[in-house]
Amino acid sequence: MPTAVIVGAQWGDEGKGKIVDFLTEEFNFDYVVRFQGGCNAGHTVVVGDEKYILHQIPSGILHKNKKCIIGNGVVVNPESLLKEIETLINKGVEINDNLFIAKHCHIIMAYHIAIEEQLEKSKKIGTTKKGIGPCYTDKIARNGVRMVDLLYPAVLKSKIHANLEIINFLLENLYHTEPLNGEEIFNQYMIYADKLKKYIADTDILINEAIDSGKNVLFEGAQGTLLDIDHGTYPYVTSSNTVAGGACTGAGVSPKKIDSIIGIVKAYTTRVGGGPFPTEMKDELGESIRQKGGEYGATTGRPRRCGWLDLVGLKHSVRVNGFTGIAITKLDILDGIEKLKVCVGYRYGNTVLEEFPKEIEILENCIPIYEELPGWKDSTKGIKNYEELPGNAKKYLEFIEKSLKVKIQIISTGQKRDEIIIKE
Ligand code: GTP
Repeated sequence: MPTAVIVGAQWGDEGKGKIVDFLTEEFNFDYVVRFQGGCNAGHTVVVGDEKYILHQIPSGILHKNKKCIIGNGVVVNPESLLKEIETLINKGVEINDNLFIAKHCHIIMAYHIAIEEQLEKSKKIGTTKKGIGPCYTDKIARNGVRMVDLLYPAVLKSKIHANLEIINFLLENLYHTEPLNGEEIFNQYMIYADKLKKYIADTDILINEAIDSGKNVLFEGAQGTLLDIDHGTYPYVTSSNTVAGGACTGAGVSPKKIDSIIGIVKAYTTRVGGGPFPTEMKDELGESIRQKGGEYGATTGRPRRCGWLDLVGLKHSVRVNGFTGIAITKLDILDGIEKLKVCVGYRYGNTVLEEFPKEIEILENCIPIYEELPGWKDSTKGIKNYEELPGNAKKYLEFIEKSLKVKIQIISTGQKRDEIIIKE
């Protein structure tokens, strides 16, 4: 697979980090590209006894001789990016000429964070309050500050002052809080500019040249399909296109150049923050899955809501992404559960829905229709060979495969890199 896109098929936190990390090595990807989102994402990758949490840098950075690219679709928080670079370097990871940031990436400014803090007080979308939404808002409104502006101080300064005219008006008159000082922000961002300028590049050219010269390129998504700004459970979504198509716009490559699209599916479902979640388990079993699966946000530590696998949502995900294969993660977390439920449809009033509704009000009131499958007692933890899985675990996987009509190519059976089954 010379080029592959990896995306989350549910509401994020499916374990993309581990799969990207594994594939990077196994299939010898030369480049790993992040194409959307910001430091609200948190991939956890465990290598040996060391745990790495990556927010903005592609997880390929943990491998030697791989080039990592932060594509133009990402919104960069320079302060947290510099901290991430420093933390990785302190852990012995090399970061020099292996990291590139798109010139046309938008930058999260101090005022984006200030505004989001105020917005979240009234709207309660459950954002991470890191300024991601307001940064994307400015991008679409054509007021954004881009990475390339860090190289041109006069441009940076005038953009900051122009934007602050509106922001400070809102902060003072609508939110009754202190205005921000444009000069202080400018000086702070010039310090970031000094440290980050060596990474700023024409990444679209870099990526296309790499593909054209036969290099293997992996596009790494963050969050998940049901959080996509267009195809997710709007307005309880993130501010970017998390679907596979986002890799093309967020990196600057043609759809013609994408060979594989792999959907990452957690063996059950989780969701962070507000929004509809038909298969949510609000009982003891849900709590025990949360504990066993460590379902707490990698960035915020917030407990994740847990529920049964939802094939209605996943079918939607298969359609809008066009998965060529899927990877099932965290199968081991379901070990020991006597009966497993899988949602195959929704009941809404007197009707049965087989498609994921666009109307949030309908989705909020859907009652899942479950198929019950027998669980398995034996541990699947660390199994590397499909044939060694308990019979009922295989039946569970086959049921998913048959319902979604997409091949399961990878099954993850633990946190570690080698706790994995390659099915093909
Ligand atoms: P986002 O981009 O924020 O959605 O992150 P993500 O999809 O990379 O998921 P994240 O790393 O936040 O969460 C997955 C967690 O599950 C991490 O702690 C992984 O180490 C862990 N994990 C991944 N695969 C498996 C698995 O098969 N079994 C177990 N037990 N843990 C796993």
